[in-house]
Amino acid sequence: MKLGIRPILDAGRPKVYIETYGCQMNVNDSEVILSILQDEGYALTENIEEASIILANTCSIRDNAEQRIWGRIEQFRLQKRKRDGVIIGIMGCMAERLKDKLLEGKVVDLVAGPDSYRNLPEMIREIKAKQEPQMHVQLSKDETYAEISPVRLDKNGISAFISIMRGCNNCCSYCVVPYTRGPERSRDPFSIVREAEEVYANGYKEVNLLGQNVDKYFWKDPEDADHTVNFAQLLEMVAKVDPGMRVRFSTSYPSDISDEVIETMARYDNICKHIHLPVQSGSDYMLEKMRRKYNREWYLNRVDKIREVIPDCGITTDVIAGFCGETEQDHKDTLSLMEQVGYDSAFMFAYSNRPGTLASRKYEDDIPYEVKTARLNEIIALQNRMSLKSNERELGKIVEVLVEGPSKRNPEQLCGRASNNKMCVFPNGGHKVGDYVMVKVESCTSATLICSLV
Ligand code: SAH
Ligand code: SF4
Ligand code: F3S
Repeated sequence: MKLGIRPILDAGRPKVYIETYGCQMNVNDSEVILSILQDEGYALTENIEEASIILANTCSIRDNAEQRIWGRIEQFRLQKRKRDGVIIGIMGCMAERLKDKLLEGKVVDLVAGPDSYRNLPEMIREIKAKQEPQMHVQLSKDETYAEISPVRLDKNGISAFISIMRGCNNCCSYCVVPYTRGPERSRDPFSIVREAEEVYANGYKEVNLLGQNVDKYFWKDPEDADHTVNFAQLLEMVAKVDPGMRVRFSTSYPSDISDEVIETMARYDNICKHIHLPVQSGSDYMLEKMRRKYNREWYLNRVDKIREVIPDCGITTDVIAGFCGETEQDHKDTLSLMEQVGYDSAFMFAYSNRPGTLASRKYEDDIPYEVKTARLNEIIALQNRMSLKSNERELGKIVEVLVEGPSKRNPEQLCGRASNNKMCVFPNGGHKVGDYVMVKVESCTSATLICSLV
């Protein structure tokens, strides 16, 4: 079979417009949705005014994510008034969580959860035939869209997302994902490798393997129970596609990341030296209440192990401020853990109560808004100082970057990431997007390494 990635089609076809919210997995899901709709005769447009189908692929992780979508739905109402027959669809996690509530405002015609995308063509045909809204929100134990070639929506053709698993079997008490994405399931490793080969043959230089907890990746050959593949083995299989193809992955889970994974990373130059290891809190009491399956000591041991095996490894994290019952001491424990690890960067959030989750049922969301915000701001300020320090540690080093394109601030310069995920800016020496370039770190801000060519 000839390797090729699916082109974005056009010419005379009815148009679909897709907005994507939330995590990288959602971005990849939009690529799957477009692939399915192209087979049904549609073509992508970036102009909402000419779309006959308008889709939002949505996120429910925090309340403000959902509020944004409700705002967008009101704007879609205007599109519907302007043109007859426009179909408005809500896909993804919010579709799964809110189901027919989304139909109440009489704007939305189509509601499809994360495991329902194969049903889209039929649902669209039904809407057209019956002039009635359609909803499909059944979650699946085995859907992985394994053999669907996503239509790549990234802008530069360099870095591709590949979902290796779907769903989540953890039960972090604050989190909606297990409810919106269903049970954990791993995708056939050979389809993953094939997809990596496909994108590499088409000029991509980096693949990003995605899952809510990649360390739980586990595949059993249906025909031979002795043949299994774990995440470390999968990483190795993908790394072997070509030494010129970088491999990244996220997200790792602190109690599941194995020595085997860390050692595999160390063995392959093309597996990027970066681990996103969300901690959420530095307080054992909070971690237990959050139902994370590790404590502070375990987490710090994992960080020590990573640094012992891969001294230059970038380590980033997620932190939640103001979870139910969080005391000033719990908050200080988070600050001290962050300082102890010295993260390179972090995503930081104020706790948002999600209806239906264990925390919502069992605990009071009792930290006042002002306290949550003040704690979050303190966490952000600390991380900014640490990000600067972390970048200062890079001064004078020579690193290899993958050119992503012109720098946003100064289009005369180029930008790209080092293996440890740090963003580098450097002079344009006639390099092309997708080239590897050696640069020397001359100065920095808390967000960027400013480099010269070597
Ligand atoms: N699977 C990943 C995280 C996915 S969600 C993991 O377990 O680490 C991304 C981040 O959103 C989480 O790490 C957490 O920090 C944050 N988050 C999830 N639910 C939240 C909530 N209810 N309020 C605030 N932040 C939340
Ligand atoms: Fe949510 Fe926890 Fe699963 Fe991450 S591991 S998606 S935080 S339940
Ligand atoms: Fe959001 Fe769903 Fe991803 S809730 S973070 S889009 S898995």
